[in-house]
Amino acid sequence: MQRIDTDVVIVGAGAAGLTAATELVKAGRTVVVLEARDRVGGRLWTDEIDGAMLEIGGQWVSPDQDALIETLDELGLETYPRYREGVNVYLAPDGTRRTFEGEIFPVPPATEQEIVTLIEKLDALVAEIDPERPWEHPDAKDLDETSFARWLETQTDDEEARENIGMFIAGAMLTKPAHAFSALQALLMAASAGSFSNLVDADFILDRRVVGGLQQVPLRLAERLGDEVVRLGQPVRTLRWNPEQPAEGVVAVTEELEVHASEVILAMPPVLFSRISYEPPLPRRQHQLHQHLSMGLVIKVHAVYETPFWRDLGLSGTAFSPYELVHEAYDNTNFDDPRGTLVGFVADEAADGVFQLPAEERKARILESMSHYYGEQAKHPVVYYESDWGSEEWTRGAYAASFDMGGLARYGADLRTPVGPIHFACSDMAGKGYQHVDGAVRMGREVAAQILEGARAGAR
Ligand code: FDA
Repeated sequence: MQRIDTDVVIVGAGAAGLTAATELVKAGRTVVVLEARDRVGGRLWTDEIDGAMLEIGGQWVSPDQDALIETLDELGLETYPRYREGVNVYLAPDGTRRTFEGEIFPVPPATEQEIVTLIEKLDALVAEIDPERPWEHPDAKDLDETSFARWLETQTDDEEARENIGMFIAGAMLTKPAHAFSALQALLMAASAGSFSNLVDADFILDRRVVGGLQQVPLRLAERLGDEVVRLGQPVRTLRWNPEQPAEGVVAVTEELEVHASEVILAMPPVLFSRISYEPPLPRRQHQLHQHLSMGLVIKVHAVYETPFWRDLGLSGTAFSPYELVHEAYDNTNFDDPRGTLVGFVADEAADGVFQLPAEERKARILESMSHYYGEQAKHPVVYYESDWGSEEWTRGAYAASFDMGGLARYGADLRTPVGPIHFACSDMAGKGYQHVDGAVRMGREVAAQILEGARAGAR
């Protein structure tokens, strides 16, 4: 067992942990980052699969994500826009295929009116929500006791309107069924992106990608910090601390290292906090709070073709239907790549269903669904890959964690509160940029500032 002494120990080398480390090092503090995996990046992971460069985790950057955009600029990373020329595809409840332009799906006029009204209502409610403190909304408790599905039912009898609006938050964002999370949680998701309209606007929310992949953010941050700082293959098993004497700091223990520090940042999804043994245990409030957060589930499907054949058909590649196994899909062709890539998503209960099938049957079902949008050619990719984050020990789902019914109003205010020398930072705990890399960067910066402030005030 090797002993290391440092100012701050950080558990997790994702975007949040590495941002915090970078800020602390800039301010002259010594840092050690302990990462369980044999790579950095966490939910950011670019890999070559059968000769195709795929972004297995997070990839898109939207124009409001200024913390992430600043980081991209600082690291000298270039971005490029998602391909979006041509018409989009929508599949109606009876399977009818319709093409459209703009944001509103080609639904019957009465349904369209209901959708427009719902978007206006949601935008108005979202404008009242502070994404940093959604629990402070005057109706927070009521909104958190009502599932998003039930809330939509109270707004309109039009099922197709409900299914479409529900999809934007349920399948497309929280990746849980709309009956499993509250209206308040849905409003937080929209408020974190600026408005509900931003979420339904694929051209906004899925605007740009990074040349070479978004994992370059953590890779470059880690490279700057160096191997002495970022230690791979070091799952933290135990955290020792003294609640009576927080000034004594903490000891983070892996199989090989014992890192002594004044403070620790847990920069990992909150569902993994309980993988660590705390000596003594965390306070009751945190024990309870952490049990009310759970990961969503989504399969990100990558299908690579010799050419982007859908472009020749006048299609943008953007496709939606709440009635399809693949509820949304996009042109995901890499920068300067002659081959064409489609990316599709299978979420929550639909993902449960296909995960019960043998791999070949699952692939056939998913490609069949994609062919409903793009035609028969979609069934024959040269490379096919399913990102399965639910099976990853150090993530356990995708895209991120959210509260169960009632959890946000009940526990939200304590989510980011440090416990003695233990601080928390993760995209899943962010306000602005919640569940996104931008939120991870914000949380990393915020917690580093918290530690530096504390040090300046002589609080610890
Ligand atoms: P993250 O989970 O990345 O990092 C935590 C780290 O802690 C991991 O490296 C883990 O191994 C490590 N760890 C855990 N327990 C440990 C222990 N006990 N000891 C040591 N290390 C431990 N976002 C976006 O902005 N645009 C997008 O397009 C998408 N799309 C998307 C698709 C898919 C499929 C996924 C899974 C996710 C996205 N996201 C996204 C979300 C985005 O990727 C995510 O919000 C951030 O990368 C999370 O960064 P964090 O650093 O907060 O956690």
